[in-house]
Amino acid sequence: MIFGAILAGGVGSRMNISDMPKQFLPLGDKPILVHTLEKFLLCERLDMIYIGVHPNWVLHMEDLLDKYVPARKAGIRIVPGGGDRNSTIINIIEKIEADHGASDEHIIVTHDSVRPFVTMRIIEENIDAALKYGACDTVVPATDTIVVSDEGGTITEIPDRSKMYQGQTPQSFNMKRLKELYFDLSDEEKNVLTDACKICVVRGLPVFMVRGEVSNLKITNVSDYKIAQAMVGGIAID
Ligand code: CTP
Repeated sequence: MIFGAILAGGVGSRMNISDMPKQFLPLGDKPILVHTLEKFLLCERLDMIYIGVHPNWVLHMEDLLDKYVPARKAGIRIVPGGGDRNSTIINIIEKIEADHGASDEHIIVTHDSVRPFVTMRIIEENIDAALKYGACDTVVPATDTIVVSDEGGTITEIPDRSKMYQGQTPQSFNMKRLKELYFDLSDEEKNVLTDACKICVVRGLPVFMVRGEVSNLKITNVSDYKIAQAMVGGIAID
């Protein structure tokens, strides 16, 4: 089976404008997370969609499903998120296994709830790549020169930009393989490997690259939020 996993377990501390996690803030006529969810609902290849939500916001999430997608609720499950992003993914995987059993064949398409402009092409190509290669990341070629600094004061290295990409989401995986790799990590590695694809890379599992879009932006701070508001034709906040 193929599962969507929308990651909404964070609190959005870098947003700094509200006590509400950023994924619930309005974007045009509905919350950011509902835009994201609607993109996933359009993809008929997804058998079920799981949303990992911060435990304090589960009831709010249930209300949003009732308000915005009542007819689709049967295909959506809400799962309490974990203390970090990968823990939220693992909570979702464990709920999927409780609901549908563990299988070598299950594919999980993980996506940041705060990337509401993901496209159908990107989701479809993630599913194809995860089925074919077992793991994939969504990336765009770096347009700015990437500068490396070991101590944050002077430049250590300027890598060849033609080999640099910026990671986005979705990141999609053979679910069983990702879970096995995760539980093989030491606690120290778990603290460092905050990106699910990086878990695969450090363990030598090839990760295929799917072409993303610059418009598939992540709303991290207020500037991103203003850009997103402009993209939906809304009025940007001050
Ligand atoms: N996320 C999650 N579970 C966590 C932490 C993050 O599901 N324990 C999700 C966020 O909700 C978000 C995505 O991962 O959709 C990308 O993370 P980020 O932009 O860093 O979100 P936050 O952790 O909420 O932001 P901040 O670091 O500013 O607090």
